[in-house]
Amino acid sequence: MTQQHPSSPPSPAAGLPLAEKASLTSGAGDFVTQGSEAAGAPAVSMSDGPHGLRLPKESGDGGQVDLHSAAPATCFPPAVALGSSWNPELAEEVAGAIAAEAAEHGVGVVLGPGINIKRSPLCGRNFEYFSEDPLVSSELGGAMVRGLQNAGVGAALKHYAANNQETDRMRVSADIDERPLREIYLRAFERIVRRDRPWSVMASYNGVNGVPVSEHTRLLTDILRGEWGFDGIVMSDWGAVRDRVAALRAGLDLQMPGTGGRTDREVVAAVESGALDEAVLDRAVDRLVAFARRTAVPVRPTGSAGADDRHRLAGRAADQCVVLLRNEPALLPLDPAAGSVAVIGELARTPRFQGAGSSQVTPTRLDVPLAGLRELATGAEVRFAAGYALPGADEGEGDKERADEAVRLAAESDTAVLFLGLPAQDESEGFDRDHIELPTAQTELLDRVLAVNPRVVVVLSNGGVVRTAPWQDRVPALVEGWLLGQAGGGALARVLFGAVNPSGKLAETVPLRLEDAPSHLSFPGEEGRARYGEGVFVGYRGYDARRCEVAFPFGHGLSYTTYGYRDLRVAENEDGTGFRVRLTVTNTGSVAGREIVQVYSGGPAGSRVLRPVRELRAFASVFLEPGESREVAVEVARHDLAYYSERVGGWRVEGGTYRVEAGASSRDIRATAEVDVTGDPSGLRLTGRNTLAEWLGHPVGGPLLAERFARARAGTDREGQGAPADPVMRRFLADVPLDVICEFPQSPVPPGTVAELSAEVEARTAAGRERQEV
Ligand code: BGC
Repeated sequence: MTQQHPSSPPSPAAGLPLAEKASLTSGAGDFVTQGSEAAGAPAVSMSDGPHGLRLPKESGDGGQVDLHSAAPATCFPPAVALGSSWNPELAEEVAGAIAAEAAEHGVGVVLGPGINIKRSPLCGRNFEYFSEDPLVSSELGGAMVRGLQNAGVGAALKHYAANNQETDRMRVSADIDERPLREIYLRAFERIVRRDRPWSVMASYNGVNGVPVSEHTRLLTDILRGEWGFDGIVMSDWGAVRDRVAALRAGLDLQMPGTGGRTDREVVAAVESGALDEAVLDRAVDRLVAFARRTAVPVRPTGSAGADDRHRLAGRAADQCVVLLRNEPALLPLDPAAGSVAVIGELARTPRFQGAGSSQVTPTRLDVPLAGLRELATGAEVRFAAGYALPGADEGEGDKERADEAVRLAAESDTAVLFLGLPAQDESEGFDRDHIELPTAQTELLDRVLAVNPRVVVVLSNGGVVRTAPWQDRVPALVEGWLLGQAGGGALARVLFGAVNPSGKLAETVPLRLEDAPSHLSFPGEEGRARYGEGVFVGYRGYDARRCEVAFPFGHGLSYTTYGYRDLRVAENEDGTGFRVRLTVTNTGSVAGREIVQVYSGGPAGSRVLRPVRELRAFASVFLEPGESREVAVEVARHDLAYYSERVGGWRVEGGTYRVEAGASSRDIRATAEVDVTGDPSGLRLTGRNTLAEWLGHPVGGPLLAERFARARAGTDREGQGAPADPVMRRFLADVPLDVICEFPQSPVPPGTVAELSAEVEARTAAGRERQEV
């Protein structure tokens, strides 16, 4: 039994029989937990998630769900699109609307958001994730957690952790060094858990460094709860648990879905045999009871007005997700009042608006781009030709006729708008892609259309990036429409006709070739292991470090107006917790628009570890009328400048000069400033095994050793504070441990002094007497 502190409230587990406690730690059905009247814990209904609800049909079947016939719910833009909005307020509003819809249906927990990092363009589930960057992922994902939970519906932050591929996802081990694990793969989870306090976290299918995540004590307990202070429940991904007792012990509170009592009996037997400490079970039960009480929201129907409002919100959200990749010469926006437009591509009539798998929503209605264009055209003539068939067979019956008709239409029209994209079967939860090409029938059609009419706009529909390099320079206008949810058709029409000024920016890099992707050689791994060999150099961090040209860089996105950046200033906060970065942005064009300002940092020079050229530290949206200027201010936390030191076993801010950059994309830096940062005191305990360079670089040990050298050589060496004058010798000795140097016959530091020096460093550090001068 759990030990009760005299003043703490009674443990709900305390009064329950063992079998009931065990049953509470697994689901009662596919999407519902076990309730307990005795414990005051109602059963909790859950629903996927993340961009809308996958609602069970009203079947009274005790939570059994037919994945393919969910009842209608609003399909908001999936994360790939919402991520491109770079707009946390919007994400929070969307999540609030999902929560209201959930509450109408008695759903207490929405299974999302998914915040895994897009490690490779090939991941079949990239459409469900926000970005290749942890800051974008945490700002958008955290906003969704707040939006859900502020409306009384629990979030399930998923998939914790390092679920970056679908290939072999239920067995593969993601083998990741501690630094990239902390800086890239856990970082968004850490930020959201600390700041937004999700009520639940979903443990992923995969393993990390050889241990299945469901049984990973270090991830589920030491880091999640111990370091980050998580106070919710950890649930398994569906069917992820292999060893229920080991999972409980590691910190997994809830197995989903239920197993009809089979694994509950294993838990009972383990407690009875003494193999499982009952206190472990009690802790999980107490958390589950608290969780059930938190999520017990009253049903709040909003009626059909709610559905209309949600559809409008889905459209408003989609407006901000569209990314204008290219507009040169400015072909867009099209004039709705005049001219003729050939709309080509089956995707204009049969849109793809979400990905496949557990997140698939049955939409309440569907806006079609072609209909949207026709609706907005006041005088322009809009004609349509399918051009290709979906699903995209290259040589099927009638393909030639379809393409010929489209080329004819393009030749007769002022402008051709080509809707291209990935067929639904190309990307889904459950498998990865093996290339990033568009179907050949579509690119061949594009070539033929360009041959008869150069005024071509390409609109893309895709959940993962596609290769644009072979043709992007021949196409004046290119719009990335991602998968935009049920109201995306209207949004695309509004952008094309200029009713909406596009403002989305890429939250992931579009590479020239798949082979350029930093993870390419180790994705998806082999023989059950995926070795994350690129380390922290994921996405733009990797393209930049290798000076690799890209098709479109991270953060890129154009507008129908232009923006000027000036007066970048960086000031340290008085309390030393970070920096305030300010700059002035001006709308230098002729239409109103929203600019997403990105702030990156790089450095410091001479870092002990290899650091990315630049890393996103903050971003903000600013809405500007033509000619208007505004000051944008963002905070960069000092902690965010840290790297994770494996040697020290913690985060370290290195002292030195950092570059602070403000840009319109990661490769369109408009202003740069520098800021001097004082480093964290060294956490390194110096011993004889530390090299000369490490000793000399240590804030306390360095001056001390230099002093000894100088003293020993007084009068003979006026240079280099006692270090050898010969530069080659200096470099040679830099990597030699001090205890080896001490053994050299001419050593200024005799053997036996190292222990004394180490003790002196400890004492001075402890006393805070850090003398920088010699
Ligand atoms: C997916 C989760 C989802 C769960 C329930 C799993 O296969 O990985 O994201 O929430 O199923 O549908």
